[in-house]
Amino acid sequence: MDSSSDKDLHDLLTKLRQKYAVMGQDMASYLDGLLHADYLTYWDYVHLDTLLSLQNPKTQFPDEKVFIIYHQITELYFNLVLWELDQIVDKTDLDETFFNARLDRVIRYFQNLCSSFDIMSEGMEREQFLMFRMSLLPASGFQSAQYRMIEIKSTDMINLVDPVSRPSYTSRDVKDHLEKLYWRSGATELATGKKTLTLQQFEQKYMKEFLELGARHSTKNILRVYESRFAGKPEVVSRMREYDLLANVYWPLSHMKSAARYLQKDPEDIKATGGTNWQKYLPPRFQKIHFFPALWSEQEKAEWGRPAVEKALQRS
Ligand code: HEM
Repeated sequence: MDSSSDKDLHDLLTKLRQKYAVMGQDMASYLDGLLHADYLTYWDYVHLDTLLSLQNPKTQFPDEKVFIIYHQITELYFNLVLWELDQIVDKTDLDETFFNARLDRVIRYFQNLCSSFDIMSEGMEREQFLMFRMSLLPASGFQSAQYRMIEIKSTDMINLVDPVSRPSYTSRDVKDHLEKLYWRSGATELATGKKTLTLQQFEQKYMKEFLELGARHSTKNILRVYESRFAGKPEVVSRMREYDLLANVYWPLSHMKSAARYLQKDPEDIKATGGTNWQKYLPPRFQKIHFFPALWSEQEKAEWGRPAVEKALQRS
């Protein structure tokens, strides 16, 4: 369209006048404002100066910057995942096309996170990591609230209960499920078996919010939307399975590779964590978290994570 033609301009002005009139506003005053307004710049739009002011290393080790920025990148991706999940669960006229398209986005974000994790597992000097990590205690990625929110919005809370209690758990109360979440039972100190300080601080800050979120999403999460609208549809099922694997096997395994690279062998190194017995806690085959358990056979659930590990071993 040639927007500079007189007729087009006239039409535009008419529409603008109507827009402002609806709100009881005078269009001319706004046009006057436009005359004086600055042009939008890229750096203002993306808040570049603010963005680049958010990395504040606690030590002089150069690789700590890699560590901070990659955590921030991950949190931004988690935020995008939550954005897509919200669009699915909040949509009133949801159809399969929309559901699949948004799940494809979630899958893409997780794939990117998995393929970029070597920035952590390969991209820092171990000696530097072990030094600067000690200055960050007891903070840990374990305290990522968005990671927990993704879990809560994806499935029923019972599916996030620790795998020992889960099979015999009869309560349908979200409050009870919250007590037994897998990560609350998992984050115990190596030496004493008590809750780690990392966990205590995380609980103090977020448990109330998680309870509210859990209650709000108990009937409105990805699993429930699937069951009520798209159960058994092959195009949907394949995406749900892929998402489940990415969130609960592939990302955890990419993440664990970093833990193995930096923390294995020397018992002293274990101090550079939030204090968990991570070798017992982190592996998907021990956590056994499936967002969509009905989409997996008993054997697949029992061997959760094993095929992915075998594939990775074949590649290396
Ligand atoms: C060199 C890199 C990393 C190492 C060595 C590492 C190590 C660990 C360890 C040992 C734990 C167990 C809890 C603890 O004792 O602190 C943990 C948990 C966790 N970390 Fe990392 N981590 C790394 C990078 C990241 C990054 C980039 C993220 C992104 C946000 C992240 C997010 C998490 C999450 C969400 C958990 C909890 C996992 C669960 O509950 O299953 N970590 N990490």
